[in-house]
Amino acid sequence: MEIIRTTVQLVEYISKVKERGLRIGLVPTMGALHDGHLSLVERSVADNDITVVSVFVNPTQFNNPADLATYPRDEQRDITLLAGAGASAVYLPTVEEVYPEGTSAAAGYKYDLGTAAEVMEGKMRPGHFQGVAQIVSRLFRLTRADVAYFGEKDFQQIAVIRNMIASEGIDIRIVACPIKRADDGLALSSRNALLTDDQRRRAPIIYRTLQSSVEYSMTHSVRETHHYVVSRLNDVEEMEVEYFEIVDGRTLLPVDDWRESRWIVGCITVYNGKVRLIDNIAYRKEN
Ligand code: PAF
Repeated sequence: MEIIRTTVQLVEYISKVKERGLRIGLVPTMGALHDGHLSLVERSVADNDITVVSVFVNPTQFNNPADLATYPRDEQRDITLLAGAGASAVYLPTVEEVYPEGTSAAAGYKYDLGTAAEVMEGKMRPGHFQGVAQIVSRLFRLTRADVAYFGEKDFQQIAVIRNMIASEGIDIRIVACPIKRADDGLALSSRNALLTDDQRRRAPIIYRTLQSSVEYSMTHSVRETHHYVVSRLNDVEEMEVEYFEIVDGRTLLPVDDWRESRWIVGCITVYNGKVRLIDNIAYRKEN
């Protein structure tokens, strides 16, 4: 596996790959890899000739400096895992490499991300999706990837990235991959490493509640289902729901009635102590 740290090296590597007419899959990550990331890498390795993985904790998508400072990092372990998963190259740039003119200069350009970027994470983390669009569009352009893989845990992020490639005219296919969960149902996330033992023990209740709410939703309104989820989770020690939105799976706009859409998803963010966990579940999914 090639270890690439600079943009110049990356561009050279990609040119050689393109000269050979090979198909490139990209898996963008912020490192602290877990089986969820590795499932994206494995999917890309199966689908493409070359798989490039980026490992970069992108400062411009963090609106909370403490969150950025505590974000887990383990470069050596990431490299070992990626080599084991069959990645062809890992791109591990520094912040200066990605933003040579500083991160505030990068904020000058505003991406058109549509209304999907204004709700939920967009509301709670101002500037977050602009930061995601900055780094992801740069990675798409530098790697000239044919296809990029993202996990459905970040359901809204995928919708926003689709809007970004449409407005920027970037020719790439986005593949959304299913959420990977621990045996007890907790969605895998790099942030899980920050949970204390007690918080980790309690965390699976998030998914269990979402699952039982699907059954509940068959006989109750959207409003009642919303209340069911939020009240149950807020009753758990150290847990506080930041938002729970029941939305149309395509537009991400809230629905008031189950008949409004054939694709309805519940998206949740819960503070478990100081650790912010996100998850989602489909209530209705068209075939
Ligand atoms: O989902 C993530 O880990 C990040 O938002 C991404 C897509 C790698 C951009 O930094």
